[in-house]
Amino acid sequence: MSGPVQGFSKLSKEEKIQWVAKHYTYDPEQTTALLKKYWNEDAQLQKLHDEFIENTITNFYLPLGVAPNFLINDKLYTLPMAIEESSVVAAASKSAKFWLNRGGFRTRVLGTEKVGQVHFLFRGDHHKLAAFFKSIKSRLISEVSPITKNMEKRGGGITDIELRNKSQELQDYYQLHCTFETLDAMGANFINSCLEQFSKTLREAAQEYESFSPEEKNIEVVMSILSNYVPNCVVRAEVSCPVSDLNEDDGVAPETFAEKIIQAVKIAEIEPFRAVTHNKGIMNGIDSVVLATGNDFRAIEAGIHAYAAKDGQYRSLTHARVENGMFHFWIDVPLALGTVGGLTSLHPLVKLALEILHQPKAEDLMQIVAVAGLAQNFAALRSLVTTGIQQGHMKMHLLNILNQLGATEEEKVKMVDYFKTHTATHNAVVEAFRKLRAN
Ligand code: MEV
Repeated sequence: MSGPVQGFSKLSKEEKIQWVAKHYTYDPEQTTALLKKYWNEDAQLQKLHDEFIENTITNFYLPLGVAPNFLINDKLYTLPMAIEESSVVAAASKSAKFWLNRGGFRTRVLGTEKVGQVHFLFRGDHHKLAAFFKSIKSRLISEVSPITKNMEKRGGGITDIELRNKSQELQDYYQLHCTFETLDAMGANFINSCLEQFSKTLREAAQEYESFSPEEKNIEVVMSILSNYVPNCVVRAEVSCPVSDLNEDDGVAPETFAEKIIQAVKIAEIEPFRAVTHNKGIMNGIDSVVLATGNDFRAIEAGIHAYAAKDGQYRSLTHARVENGMFHFWIDVPLALGTVGGLTSLHPLVKLALEILHQPKAEDLMQIVAVAGLAQNFAALRSLVTTGIQQGHMKMHLLNILNQLGATEEEKVKMVDYFKTHTATHNAVVEAFRKLRAN
């Protein structure tokens, strides 16, 4: 261990590694060798990764897999997915194949509105504030035009600015609640730049507003920041088929299968303990495509979970019903995604992922990502209401356990074969491996 360090960010990469290795690891030499093993041989590519963040010491790999056969609005896609969980890509592929033979996925963007807010304190008469806001609204928009003019040329920009009185909930607290259309960009930088300009105009104009008392002139801006809650930037993805077409090889009658899925969804609609896990499975699909396409999965997570709790209780993002003999299964999900800017034009694998997806526009990507979530949920529910989740999960996890045990390729083949007809639990794998080695 060491005490606090000064000027760490100024050290060279080698020096940073030495410092971490020396002060925090058992075997500094081995640590240094390990960290360097993960460097890319291509120095330029490595430099690109080094510069994404501060204090980079190495790269942290995640597998990038692909799930083929996604038929979305009659077009075939292969989905790139960056994820470490063993069964996710397999489940997505299985779901894609299931729905490929039943008309595929249908999707529709329901809205693309992004949000940002200037949070401020105003100590005075709120009627006067409302009149002031009305008088400066066009100035707010005109003073931000150097930032918005390019976006406007492409058809985007600010769609509205509203004054919101929150002083009942928090003393003197008001907002400029602003909405934006950011087209193919996720828009965080654009929105934040606009908001900071709004805040400047707001404070300056208040100083000049004659009807305000000296105290009222001193509008105090607390912060200006985009919101990751985007309940009007929503996409719907759905699948449907006659109930009688539902079953393949699950050993359950189609009607029973439909009923069980609907019951499972209803439970997640009313029971938060189940809803969180249900939605976690959806996020397995969503996050992995979001990550592979260079988008901010933390923003997506935060926004989606808030949306799942929009009526005051956390609920399932997916829904299911049977109507006139047809099974319907769908998801509504908020997704503020970008296909230009940020990592999308920097990270070589992100560029490749977007190429694999036919260079989607942001709206296309919203639809693809929603499908990934719906497909993942279908796969999870299908297992849960029939065989249980462990069968498929352990099949995929088997290789992880065998790698931990140091199995050779030949041993892996034998073990995989053995567990085709035996239930794989961690203990069962360890035991079977021990027997194999003993022979
Ligand atoms: C595991 O990553 C995800 C599941 O638990 C989702 C679910 O229970 O619906 C299988």
